[in-house]
Amino acid sequence: MTNTVAIGIQWGDEGKGKIVDLLAPKMDVVARFQGGPNAGHTLVIGDQKTVLNHIPSGILHENILSLIGNGTVVDPFRLVEELDMLLKAGIPVNERLRISDRCQLILPYHRALDAAREAAKGKGKIGTTGRGIGPCYEDKTARRGIRLVDLISDDLDARIDENLKYVNFMLVEFLGAEAVKKEDVVEALDLARERLLPLAADVPLILHENIKAGKNILYEGAQGSMLDVDHGTYPFVTSSNTVSGAALAGLGVGPKEVHEVLGICKAYTTRVGAGPFPTELYNADGMCDDKNAGKHMAEKGQEFGATTGRPRRTGWFDAVVVQHAVRINGVTGLAITKLDVLDGLEEVKLCVGYERNGERLQSIPACAKALEECIPVYETLAGWSDSTFGLKDITQLPDAAKALLKRIEEVCECPITMLSTGPDRDHICHL
Ligand code: GDP
Ligand code: IMO
Ligand code: MG
Repeated sequence: MTNTVAIGIQWGDEGKGKIVDLLAPKMDVVARFQGGPNAGHTLVIGDQKTVLNHIPSGILHENILSLIGNGTVVDPFRLVEELDMLLKAGIPVNERLRISDRCQLILPYHRALDAAREAAKGKGKIGTTGRGIGPCYEDKTARRGIRLVDLISDDLDARIDENLKYVNFMLVEFLGAEAVKKEDVVEALDLARERLLPLAADVPLILHENIKAGKNILYEGAQGSMLDVDHGTYPFVTSSNTVSGAALAGLGVGPKEVHEVLGICKAYTTRVGAGPFPTELYNADGMCDDKNAGKHMAEKGQEFGATTGRPRRTGWFDAVVVQHAVRINGVTGLAITKLDVLDGLEEVKLCVGYERNGERLQSIPACAKALEECIPVYETLAGWSDSTFGLKDITQLPDAAKALLKRIEEVCECPITMLSTGPDRDHICHL
């Protein structure tokens, strides 16, 4: 039995969906433990592309149980859309999926607050996905959240009235936005009662039974370590813990039930939304490096958000970020994705340290402003012109690509155990 946590260790969109879908056949259970519809995990099988927001990336496989844990936040409208998309594609999702009855529901007022707060912040906005994630986690911690199990509780209507009183005061009086109508909230609750409640389950019990039976479990993260609410580039982060440790609390399993931690990262770096990004080369606001390497990454890597369609910012591989992630997650192996995107670059760079105020830093500063001031220290390696797209045999890689991977392993002090060379399920080198 091997239970693995698979997480993103940069700023999200590292290719978690692809890697989880690929590992799923070796697993019996795939479980999401945090985040919600801010996630967009892409699965490519031949000419068919599937983007998942809440549902674990093992869902396309037969005989695999998919679980959504208590640490996630679920939007009834979006999750039902996702269920319908899979049902239309012939996936018996109602048989394969169970949702923790302790999941928090994202309701229309969470989305309204998310939008109104971002608008009020103007230039200083976080650049959230607008999915109501922050306000929903806020309500959870403030103990006024509505969970799946609450849909059958007697006091639900009174709690909604109380929440609306507070939220609408905030929206109208403080943020200058429109009030949320109760009927819209009721519509979301009715939909959740009709379509999600039948899938509700005691997820810790299901996991416990599977663990007892010696089954393999894959814990699928969302976002990435640099977006973790504690360990990321605060306040430019999401509102949940995205690190491997969150798998335990977000599903209700103990620390002995994790054996491997797979850290998924691109062979370069991307970020979507605002916040510090030391190795940034290119963004849609007009920033572009003189050799066009960042533009090459954005174009060849098709770097547009899977959830929001927003263009992603791009830059060189940042080993300081990955070293930090290896430490805080206990990463046992790296899955490097999108190596093929670097094909055709004359040279590739690796950020191996930061300098700030003339001093070399040992690790990432906690303060976002200090991180903004960091200047990357680069090692420059030779690029390669041959195509690595779709390669499955590591020995066929160009020498320069092998040298880059070796250097990543050395600097990050972690072995690379998987290498992805294209979006398709088949585009993989096992190492
Ligand atoms: P996730 O959020 O971590 O699951 O990643 P996303 O799905 O948001 O973004 C990753 C994008 O890169 C998707 O469009 C994938 O199909 C694509 N992708 C994943 N691995 C590779 C790879 O090795 N090479 C290329 N060219 N594309 C990849
Ligand atoms: P996956 O799972 C990339 C970013 C947003 C914003 C910040 C806060 O596909 O890797 P939020 O809506 O969560 O309050 O936004 O976090 N963000 C992501 N960036 N991939 C994601 O998910 C993300 N989920 C949130 O862009 O900067
Ligand atoms: Mg994504």
